[in-house]
Amino acid sequence: MDSNTSAKRRHFLKLGASVPMLGLMNACGSDDTTPLANTAIPNPTNPTESPDKPVAPNPVEPPVVIPASHPPRGVHASLFNDAATSRGLCWFTDGLDSPASEIQWGPIPEGMSIDAAKNAVQNPLPNVAMASTSQTTGLDNQTHKVVVAGIDPERPFRYRVGSENGGWSDVFIIEPTPKANDTWTMVHFGDHGIGELPQRLTAELMKPQHKHDLLLLAGDLSYANGEQAIWDVWFNQNQALLATTTTMAVPGNHENKDSVAANVPLLPFKDYAFNNRFNQPGDVSFFSFDYNRVHFFGFTAGAFLEDGKILKEMATLEADLAMAALRRALGQIDFIVIFQHYTIWTDQEGRAPGNPTLIAVEDQILLRYGVDLVLCGHDHVYQRSKPMVLGLPNPLGYVQVMTGTGGQSIREFEPEISAWSEKHFVGLGFSKYTISPGKIVSQYFGTPPLASDNRSRVQHESVEADFELVDEFEVRPRPLRIAKSFVKPPRTEQELAKAYDWQRIYAHTLARNCAHDQPLPGSPLHQYRKAYPNLIG
Ligand SMILES: [Fe+2]
Ligand SMILES: [Fe+2]
Repeated sequence: MDSNTSAKRRHFLKLGASVPMLGLMNACGSDDTTPLANTAIPNPTNPTESPDKPVAPNPVEPPVVIPASHPPRGVHASLFNDAATSRGLCWFTDGLDSPASEIQWGPIPEGMSIDAAKNAVQNPLPNVAMASTSQTTGLDNQTHKVVVAGIDPERPFRYRVGSENGGWSDVFIIEPTPKANDTWTMVHFGDHGIGELPQRLTAELMKPQHKHDLLLLAGDLSYANGEQAIWDVWFNQNQALLATTTTMAVPGNHENKDSVAANVPLLPFKDYAFNNRFNQPGDVSFFSFDYNRVHFFGFTAGAFLEDGKILKEMATLEADLAMAALRRALGQIDFIVIFQHYTIWTDQEGRAPGNPTLIAVEDQILLRYGVDLVLCGHDHVYQRSKPMVLGLPNPLGYVQVMTGTGGQSIREFEPEISAWSEKHFVGLGFSKYTISPGKIVSQYFGTPPLASDNRSRVQHESVEADFELVDEFEVRPRPLRIAKSFVKPPRTEQELAKAYDWQRIYAHTLARNCAHDQPLPGSPLHQYRKAYPNLIG
């Protein structure tokens, strides 16, 4: 589909180059498209108007609009470096021949209306930065990335991306990051997709009452599963949200199927679509950042096991959390939040009670440094735990919020719910967090499916009711003496390498990924199963 589109674009360009109108394409774009002037030559035989013989006006020709040759699409914004003054942007263009792409940006000056701010022709954007460009994974398209620093922290940030020759995006606006002691909001969910339910969720998140400052996407986003063009559908469906809301994403098991090497078993996967399509700090698929007084660590939790970085990720997690625990004890931050796709503990039907081995390693790292919240997806249900240690309620542990209810499908729970579980829900929905000094209030808004006798693993089940508040709880900062007890020296990568049987961890995690993915014959996981039957068991 995309190569056809690219071919059509190249064909269009060739045609365009042969006519003198090419120069007129330069100013084409979605918000400043220049209509061609009516070039009809005055006809001297036209009748002229006289007072006693009015002439009917010539019918007005509709303006001819030349489409932009490479309109940017799938624009999305992320956090980079400082949350108040820096943003990463990423977007895509069709074909491999896009003109150099850039971002134009600036603050909305005091007194300028939103309409005026969105008109980049009448109110030019004062700053420019060139984007880097690479080929979009698996497609004859291009991915453009740029990081902007020096944003005015007091004013809304407005920007557009593209080029004079290829076309411009709309002008998008991102509200300024709230100050450290201001109340701010965050939304989290995973397991989205491109069907009716995911779009319903996205539409809900665009409503003013659910406006939020930060969006965390907990993996399994497009379910492209190697069909790379599906990513474009997903980004197009969500651009209005993702271009105006600072968003961070972690990969899930379905992103693991998006490597161009996915059909080449037993080779390291080097070109994950996820890493190409998101512009994030660190390693793209694992990173940490602060948003005001909350510290976040997002990572693959083994979803990209075949990239060979799992030990490095765990060592990075250890070092990051050690520093975060110290900073919390020093009063520099209030909370430590882990953000990943895989659940650690679950009661979803067929997946209970948890994920052994790798998770056991991760779990004791999280407990060692007193992580406050673990936000995840993967299981297509909502389940919120009590504070827990090793799957048992314990105030020293963390609260896991499993919000895999992005809409890809709706699943069910085991008949028996674990003692650690505080609230569980079947349906479509999202978690919303309101963070104010010394407090996180977490709410889950959901809508249940129609009654069904067999709704487990039913795809795209119709959901009719409005979104309603289903769950609410608070997290408070740990008392200082408790916070101090979590200050510990980090173990090095070498120490972690010696401390655990990584070959078994690798094999067990692979087995988990295989079990969760139900690999088709010919898929790389299927090939791994055949190659390592004893390891995967
Ligand atoms: Fe999923
Ligand atoms: Fe998943």
